[in-house]
Amino acid sequence: MRDQIKELEARALKDLEAVNDGVALEKFRVTYLGKKGLVTALMRNLGKLPPEERPEVGREANLLKKKLTEKFEALKNRIEEQGQRAFRGIDVTLPGRKPELGHLHPITQTINDVCDIFQRMGFRVVKGPNVELDYYNFEALNIPKDHPARDMQDTFYISDTLLLRTHTSPIQIRVMEAQKPPVSIIAPGKVYRRDSDVSHTPMFHQVEGLLVDKGVSFADLKGTLISFVHQMFGKETGVRFRPSFFPFTEPSAEVDIQCVLCGGAGCRTCGQTGWLEILGSGMVDPAVYGFVDYDPEVYTGFAFGMGIERIAMLRYGIDDIQMFFKNEMRFLRQF
Ligand code: PHE
Repeated sequence: MRDQIKELEARALKDLEAVNDGVALEKFRVTYLGKKGLVTALMRNLGKLPPEERPEVGREANLLKKKLTEKFEALKNRIEEQGQRAFRGIDVTLPGRKPELGHLHPITQTINDVCDIFQRMGFRVVKGPNVELDYYNFEALNIPKDHPARDMQDTFYISDTLLLRTHTSPIQIRVMEAQKPPVSIIAPGKVYRRDSDVSHTPMFHQVEGLLVDKGVSFADLKGTLISFVHQMFGKETGVRFRPSFFPFTEPSAEVDIQCVLCGGAGCRTCGQTGWLEILGSGMVDPAVYGFVDYDPEVYTGFAFGMGIERIAMLRYGIDDIQMFFKNEMRFLRQF
């Protein structure tokens, strides 16, 4: 029986050495110390010994049980501690992180708002190519070959006949080429000019409008644009039409709104005039109808084009156009 105890001890200690996780440790406990375990069975067998051997062997058996139990407890503590250390730095009781929701860029928001206003008035949204033919960007808009707007200093040329569109007006030509009147479209998009300072970026956004039908007058142009300004900037905003010139409209007018910052009193933003220019417009020049095969004796119409960055700057009170293109989260989060 004493040999049995020695053997069991050696076996148990060897098994315990191989234990390196909770599962193996539990298996060890069941095998040796559990109700049906080997040590427990040994204790039960003590009763079968002759009385004179019992105290000595019983003492040894008890010692073995105590030794194995202690080693088991120590290893159990060590394994549990390791498990906790693996979780250190992660507090599993904290609530989960909320996914961060983004939103549309202020320029996109402004484009959408402008288009919404005109869509409610019956205009249809269309788009055109950013890489445009010289013909659509200049020629068919009655901008002749020697016009200063064609200068290399203003226009990004790709070849003699291809360029990055300098305005959204070529979309007017593409639409009129493709369909007969009545036409009423609104066309947002990127435009490109060789320019860069606090109020200019080489790429910016415009929204173009065009309406052609029988009997369209300058009064329609005024009514439509005044309604737009009132919806965009508020009913109280003053609007003024100032005579201007564009090769593709006659007569032409630039539209000013009362300065949204000083209310017309005069400040730095409006150059002390109390007014801010927001768009160019005019009645479609009969010369343009010649390029798209519309009869100028039958149809009249108006067109307009506005810079979106400018509208967004006035709307949100931003004084540096470059802010729109820096992708600074602290700026963008505010919209
Ligand atoms: N295309 C002109 C510009 O970029 C704006 C404009 C559009 C003027 C339509 C009149 C009619 O300055």
